[in-house]
Amino acid sequence: MTVRWGILGTGTIAEALTHAIRAEGGEVVAVGSASPTRAETFARNHDIGRSHAPHHELLAAGGIDVVYVATTNDRHRDDAIACLEAGVPVLLEKPFALSTAQAEEVVGVARRTGVFLMEAMWMRFQPGMLELERRIAAGEIGELRSVTIDFGIVAEPDPTRRWFDRAQGGGALLDIGVYPLTFALSLLGPATTGVAVGDLAPTGVDEQVAVAMRHERGVAAWTASFVADGPVEAFLAGTEGSFHIPRVFHEVPHLTRLVRGEPVEQIAIDGAGLGYRPEVREVHRCLADGLAESPRMPLDLSLTVMRWLDHLRDQVGVVYSTEAAGR
Ligand SMILES: NC(=O)c1ccc[n+]([C@@H]2O[C@H](COP(=O)([O-])OP(=O)(O)OC[C@H]3O[C@@H](n4cnc5c(N)ncnc54)[C@H](OP(=O)(O)O)[C@@H]3O)[C@@H](O)[C@H]2O)c1
Repeated sequence: MTVRWGILGTGTIAEALTHAIRAEGGEVVAVGSASPTRAETFARNHDIGRSHAPHHELLAAGGIDVVYVATTNDRHRDDAIACLEAGVPVLLEKPFALSTAQAEEVVGVARRTGVFLMEAMWMRFQPGMLELERRIAAGEIGELRSVTIDFGIVAEPDPTRRWFDRAQGGGALLDIGVYPLTFALSLLGPATTGVAVGDLAPTGVDEQVAVAMRHERGVAAWTASFVADGPVEAFLAGTEGSFHIPRVFHEVPHLTRLVRGEPVEQIAIDGAGLGYRPEVREVHRCLADGLAESPRMPLDLSLTVMRWLDHLRDQVGVVYSTEAAGR
């Protein structure tokens, strides 16, 4: 049966997922926005039957099997909870929430209602990520001991846009640091120590951070920056060699295996370049199987990531306005 999607949000990623959902055989039936004009324009541009404003009117109108929450970070908690309380499954954009307190609230509602919820951590579903895990488990670089990632993109320095606006949950750590953090947790196991330094923008959010962490199976060092044009590559070093993942590492487009720094194998990835489609496929599969969580992106992993984001963010000195209210 065709899965009927509703989309909350009208930004860049809402558009990208609209294409991915359709490519995976889903139907996009409705879009919700704070602004009637934005909702109507998005619906018209993407040939979507229904537009709603404000956002939650989309739920009241019904006829939706799953909602993709693509609103700004400050709205993730409320938007996800509204859907879950209405009994509608949710694919929730990263970062899962602004804080652990918010994330626990969302997960609490999902577990109480038994309604499907998954963080849209598309990196976890990339075929290259699965291939990388398989090769590491097979011992191709001996024992993996360290991960190094430099994730820098220069964002438009507009204090009103989501990257730098504290009210919208801006900052490099939550926006892009979430990828190297999830990556390192996935490959090196649970972490025991995390140290962060960073530069703050005039708006009070982190414009960049550098992080060092100790995990169960090794160490990770990574940066997330909105002001430095980094390579967005990853190096994974083991006791008998290393893997290099070229730009953009979280899509795992290709792998090179090296021994003592010399390339010994070029590894093409079957199915690379599908972007957001594999995560949409996972949602369809979980819904068809009646699952409340994705085994590949479980809620406990999202909570673990959020706890570390809180811990690292504290050290950099970023405080969101919702936290004054205990959220
Ligand atoms: N998975 C990924 O690869 C990925 C990539 C980018 C972003 N994200 C996540 O997705 C969420 C949304 O990011 P985004 O890149 O889509 O953000 P965005 O383009 O800035 O859009 C976010 C929201 O801003 C409003 N908006 C859009 N265009 C606007 C305009 N011209 N004027 C005023 N407001 C406008 C819309 O609000 P209304 O809903 O009210 O219309 C929209 O939902 C964030 O949580 C982000 O972390 C994920």
